[in-house]
Amino acid sequence: MARLAVHLPPLALRNPILSASGTYGHAAEMQHMADIRAIGGLVSKTVTRLPRHGNPAPRICETEAGFLNSIGLENKGLDYYVRELLPQMAEQDTCVITNIGAERVEDFVELAARLSDEPAVDALEVNLSCPNVQEGKLPFATDARMAARVIEEVKRATKKPIFAKLSPNVSRISEMAIAVEAAGADAITAVNTVLGMQVNWRTGKPGLHTVQGGYSGTAIKPIALRCAWECARSVSIPIIGCGGITTAHDVLEFMVVGCTAVQIGTASFGDPGLVGRLAGEVEALLDSAGIDDVNALIGTLRTPQATPRATRPHEGQQAPCASKT
Ligand SMILES: Cc1cc2nc3c(=O)[nH]c(=O)nc-3n(C[C@H](O)[C@H](O)[C@H](O)COP(=O)(O)O)c2cc1C
Repeated sequence: MARLAVHLPPLALRNPILSASGTYGHAAEMQHMADIRAIGGLVSKTVTRLPRHGNPAPRICETEAGFLNSIGLENKGLDYYVRELLPQMAEQDTCVITNIGAERVEDFVELAARLSDEPAVDALEVNLSCPNVQEGKLPFATDARMAARVIEEVKRATKKPIFAKLSPNVSRISEMAIAVEAAGADAITAVNTVLGMQVNWRTGKPGLHTVQGGYSGTAIKPIALRCAWECARSVSIPIIGCGGITTAHDVLEFMVVGCTAVQIGTASFGDPGLVGRLAGEVEALLDSAGIDDVNALIGTLRTPQATPRATRPHEGQQAPCASKT
């Protein structure tokens, strides 16, 4: 399936399909439900420096279309991740991307520095965008200067490529994209969840303990697609699309607006095998359209004022996980 291989320089992925953080465990629990070798890469749940209990229940609820969650970054912390979870991810025959989160710049730096020496980590995804901590205040997600500072400091602390994961909950995502690119991000993941809430009018009770939370699933696809497109036309680093992606058609739509790869989140809850099947389904669509190489679709959106995607500067560079393509 060489025609599906894509580059997130310096990484080469065997195909553009990645799991989305927090929705796919750490691979070991998924390997009996999906063919992990058919996935371009696995993204870990957000790892924080110290363990976090997360938010009180209820912290996930279904809506008419999609999920609301307010997990609050529950995880057992960096030491546990490195000791127990990373080795399980490393055993899988695919790229490993570790998603890191923090409420202080110093903690981002410590996470990045520790993970820099872990050979199993192919890239770091910096979660600038979790809506479920600090009462949804999104400190790094909505302030371009703060986001840039995190990326700059993380870049200094690690040799790994850095993906900056952005929030859709901003007025101008292009400003965030430009800021993180200038600060040294190697790619942008667009996007995390959309702020939302649910209420029962009879009881007056909100669906989530934290009242507001992160909305995900097919309903946010148009929002995510617009965000990915705005990022793609504002910067020259690669974009990883995320939000509501459920079918092979969705994957190719995100590529047409300028994404080099995509992540599958909420769709995996209903169909854990989907991530392992999508590459095959994308290939079948390429066949049906007579397209030889999936890269030919990237950034081919035709608008009345078409702005061609800038040529990616690093294409063709050597990739550390090239053996996994
Ligand atoms: C239950 C749940 C937990 C999540 N946990 C994380 C997380 O730990 N870190 C993160 O960066 N994103 C997290 N996300 C956001 C997803 O990675 C993704 O960005 C978002 O759900 C949009 O994609 P989707 O519509 O395909 O789910 C979580 C999403 C869900 C539904």
